[in-house]
Amino acid sequence: MRKNIVAGNWKMNKTIDEAVDLISDLKNLIDQEAELKSQVIVAPPFVNLPGVSKVIEDSKMHLSAQNCASEESGAYTGEVSAKMLKSINCEYVIIGHSERRAYYGEGDAMLSRKVDFALQSGLKVIFCLGERLLEREKGEHFKVIENQLKNTIFMLNEVDFANVILAYEPVWAIGTGVTASPGQAQEIHAYIRELITKNFNEQIANATTILYGGSCKPSNAKEIFANADVDGGLIGGASLNAEDFIAIIQSF
Ligand code: PGA
Repeated sequence: MRKNIVAGNWKMNKTIDEAVDLISDLKNLIDQEAELKSQVIVAPPFVNLPGVSKVIEDSKMHLSAQNCASEESGAYTGEVSAKMLKSINCEYVIIGHSERRAYYGEGDAMLSRKVDFALQSGLKVIFCLGERLLEREKGEHFKVIENQLKNTIFMLNEVDFANVILAYEPVWAIGTGVTASPGQAQEIHAYIRELITKNFNEQIANATTILYGGSCKPSNAKEIFANADVDGGLIGGASLNAEDFIAIIQSF
């Protein structure tokens, strides 16, 4: 049976003191939960990973980075390798976020290299995909999603693919306050699962966790998570507040 996951993507927010405050508040709330119905992951900025890791080392939370280098090591000023992330207790890394695709020109070839180094280093990958507004308006969203998968993680073998979580994040819903309707989310998630069946097989498709991301908040998480093919969320803005994030975690 596949895992439910709620992951918080803090993006470029929080100094170290603010990060420790947030994660400590969250840890207190999570410690009070008798039973978590989902795995909880937090993805702070690089510099806050060690500090956050220390706070959550004896908690039920898991640590993710927001990015990693597309090279193994060497003269790449400003980059952080997958191996370095693994060495500081990171378990996951987000790859393919639409902000990285849009603002830093990350395309399929680069994303595939990042995925390969992450998996080789023993990290699990949260791979993001999703269409832009214009693509949806033109009815191209199914094709866009198929291509994003085909040229990257569908090239992996089955063993590596088992360490990938997918996050469907329609670009028009990220940070905009506009959420995909539960029906729109379910439609795409079911489509992604169908594509996984075609590329691998049904058993693998049923075992793959597919998250929804894009303006997910306490007021809409329950109806989004209630869909058969939605296995949780990748949460941006609402993960920066411990009460909101725990309310989303409790939406299962
Ligand atoms: P948002 O971001 O929840 O602030 O829309 C989601 C994401 O980009 O992962």
